[in-house]
Amino acid sequence: MYQVIARKYRPQNFSELIGQEHVQKTLANAITSCRLAHGYIFSGQRGTGKTSVARILARCLNCINGPTVTPCGVCASCVEISNGNSVDVIEIDAASNRGINEMREIRENVRYRPARDRYKIFIVDEAHQITKEAFNALLKTLEEPPEWVVFILCTTEAHEIPNTIASRCQHFAFRSIDYAELQNRLREIAAQEDIEASDEVLSVIAQAGEGSVRDSLSALDQAIACCGKALRVEDVRALLGMFAVESLRSVAEAIHNQDSARMLDIVEELERSGQSLQHFCRELSRYWRNLLVAKISGKPNRLIAASEREQQGFLETAGLFGEEDLTRYLNLTLELYQTLQTSLQPRLHLEVGLIKLVQAGRLQSIEEALASLENPEPETSRAERLKPATFQTASSKANPGGEQNALNSTQSPVAPAGKPVEPVKSGDLATDLADALSRAGLETTADAVRQSELRLEGNELLVRAPKSIAFGLKDAGVQRVAVEVTGRPVRVRIEAREPMKTESPQTSGTSAPSENDVRQRALSHPGVKRFQELFPDAQVRTVRNLNE
Ligand SMILES: Nc1ncnc2c1ncn2[C@@H]1O[C@H](COP(=O)(O)OP(=O)(O)OP(=O)(O)O)[C@@H](O)[C@H]1O
Ligand SMILES: [Mg+2]
Ligand SMILES: [Zn+2]
Repeated sequence: MYQVIARKYRPQNFSELIGQEHVQKTLANAITSCRLAHGYIFSGQRGTGKTSVARILARCLNCINGPTVTPCGVCASCVEISNGNSVDVIEIDAASNRGINEMREIRENVRYRPARDRYKIFIVDEAHQITKEAFNALLKTLEEPPEWVVFILCTTEAHEIPNTIASRCQHFAFRSIDYAELQNRLREIAAQEDIEASDEVLSVIAQAGEGSVRDSLSALDQAIACCGKALRVEDVRALLGMFAVESLRSVAEAIHNQDSARMLDIVEELERSGQSLQHFCRELSRYWRNLLVAKISGKPNRLIAASEREQQGFLETAGLFGEEDLTRYLNLTLELYQTLQTSLQPRLHLEVGLIKLVQAGRLQSIEEALASLENPEPETSRAERLKPATFQTASSKANPGGEQNALNSTQSPVAPAGKPVEPVKSGDLATDLADALSRAGLETTADAVRQSELRLEGNELLVRAPKSIAFGLKDAGVQRVAVEVTGRPVRVRIEAREPMKTESPQTSGTSAPSENDVRQRALSHPGVKRFQELFPDAQVRTVRNLNE
């Protein structure tokens, strides 16, 4: 008869166990030094080895060569324990035997010596299901246990074991299994089963297990049942309802490109291919979480269940966003997931939710805003910085120096040699532009333009502004108005130049200005104005002269 892989490959001794080193080590020490407890609690996620370790411990204790850390595996005790029919190792499923009567029976049973072996071992699965009264009955036994009795309570909910019981037991918390260990285990088993599976396939199956060995092995079983001996990654992914990182990344890409239409396409594609929208949303939250972890740690990290190559992808994508952005997207996606759980119109909600992510956009952090006040950065270079490395096209790579150099040249006011330069006398275009900006209500920007030098180079409008106010020009309005004023598709490039002495009248002032003057001057400073635009609720509390 066919035996499912998870059962077929149940570890039979400590060396076959993956992970849980802390459990292995402590139990092995206890066995060799004969310092056994009468009660153990094994808690932890499903499918991480609790029942397996309980049986291994039983074998260690009852093997004919025991107590030993390396049970023989062939004696009657060892074999019977593996098959679950040893008279002295009693497995109780507390999910169906949870009442006081069953516990009374156990209490009776405990009083008799083991039939053949050294110890009488009770393995209680799903122990948290035991009723309160039944726990009380059990407590009596644990208080004064006969020397031959060992209780092992296995549970996924350690906090539901009453303290009275827990304090009489040794507690082992089983950990979720690392992705890399899961993948290795799967590779071994696939080889033994003669299954053809690439690393990518194993990676998908390991991820589907979410840290549970049993779940990964069940996923492997399912994949074999469906796809046969040769597993193809697309089939396995579709079977397990996993989404390729690429499809999740397209969401990040759409946010980055501020492309709401793409979001609608993504939902359309999901619907068309019959994917569960809830599940997609869940995977998307996990994706944000992975990006966030990548962002925070800045290097491949074992907290992310993904291959080295995928991790590199995460790092690159994470580089496009700030930590706050990713946190915001994660929160929005989790909210969206909640909504989808109960929604009667999941498609509509997913569409709106994804568009919201685009609108949530990329906020400027306070640090960035402050930095831009001190160190204005040309609009173009910001755009360049935000441009994803991964989304670059071949043509942009073919000419790596070209555009980059032009951008870097913003520090030098000299136009690139050979390029036709059409200097526009300050006063013509500058005045026109400033006036148009004023009319458009962009007063701060207009002021900044008035104090700048303008040059039209081909279709590029170079605006050289004093360093202190260049940020005032970063308003997108300049671009729009410049197109209107010049009547051609100009691209505005903003450059900061060092302030000239004459531009700061305060330095030549002889009499000390009054406090009110200082305040007025500070408030009319374009930097302060700009700050107040960015943070409308900000208040100016005090004004200090940094030169004093
Ligand atoms: N740490 C592990 N090392 C190797 N295989 C494991 C491990 N944990 C689980 N497995 C595999 O998963 C199967 C189920 O494991 P086990 O019954 O020990 O899990 P469990 O923690 O008791 O789960 P549950 O909480 O669902 O009862 C085993 O047969 C084995 O194939
Ligand atoms: Mg179990
Ligand atoms: Zn044995």
